[in-house]
Amino acid sequence: MPNKKRPSVYITRKLPDIVETRMRELFDAELNVDDMPRSRDELVAAVRRVDVLVPTVTDRIDAAILDEAGPQFKLIASFSNGIDHVDVEAAAKKGITVTNTPGVLTEDTADMVMALILAVPRRLAEGARILTDSKGDWAGWSPTWMLGHRIWGKRLGIVGMGRIGTAVARRAKAFGLQVHYHNRHRVSAATEEALEATYWDSLDQMLARVDIVSINCPSTPATYHLMSARRLALMQPTSYIVNTARGGVIDETALIKCIREGTIAGAGLDVFENEPVVGSKLLKLANENKVVLLPHMSSATIESRIDMGEKVIINIRTYYDGHRPPDRVLPGRT
Ligand code: DGY
Repeated sequence: MPNKKRPSVYITRKLPDIVETRMRELFDAELNVDDMPRSRDELVAAVRRVDVLVPTVTDRIDAAILDEAGPQFKLIASFSNGIDHVDVEAAAKKGITVTNTPGVLTEDTADMVMALILAVPRRLAEGARILTDSKGDWAGWSPTWMLGHRIWGKRLGIVGMGRIGTAVARRAKAFGLQVHYHNRHRVSAATEEALEATYWDSLDQMLARVDIVSINCPSTPATYHLMSARRLALMQPTSYIVNTARGGVIDETALIKCIREGTIAGAGLDVFENEPVVGSKLLKLANENKVVLLPHMSSATIESRIDMGEKVIINIRTYYDGHRPPDRVLPGRT
């Protein structure tokens, strides 16, 4: 591993001031003060020239870009938990280390999952909009005003019981939801017991039996359209789906069809298949109050962004101190 005092580091997006200041102190840091997404050409020029790239979820670091990397380019220290925007396999083949920022956005994301679980059945966005649009002219409370559906006592099916899925389960239990989950591996008996969680080896069977589905698995080739048209059809007409993971895990076209046809009651979505494009059909469903759409903001707290920055710095620093960075991502392990 190289031992370099001040590596040159190219950061693709604006980061919190405190993170940028520290990066400037430690590295020859090239910042993005105006926060405009970098073009492919700019990324290629960067990997030809610098030692370290700090990309994030809005950058696509594929094999073609990595082919352009100069011999000095050794580290991709991503400012993200998810790593689906980086071709980790191609990087490994070229001897380039990849790191991410796991763990520090777990709790904030899980909080927002709960907000989205409540959003459609309890008509949160709709209620807020009605009051704002009324411009103070509201007739007041009535027993049949804004009735939604109770979530207490319902069954929540968590798809992906990693850090975030487990944090969601903890909150869900406190909200009185029954926790069900599907995961590649069953979690420990102690965790299951603490969460009073029921494991489903078969995702299909779980989907047919729960009231709310929360997607919390990473985006990998294996989870692309995991929630396919066939699987969405297994859900109950009174059920809701929440996605804070990645848009590609759900077949969005099929989901829109299910909600329009009433075979699924609604959805809370923070991520989209063709992000940042959110199609007009989804926007129409939002106007009809069948979906609540958020602009990929589940982990968006100043605290999480500072912690993410801290992790990026530690990963770069440890690498250039000649050690293995703590958040190394290995091919096939996302
Ligand atoms: C990530 O870092 O993967 C997130 O999607 C940002 O919230």
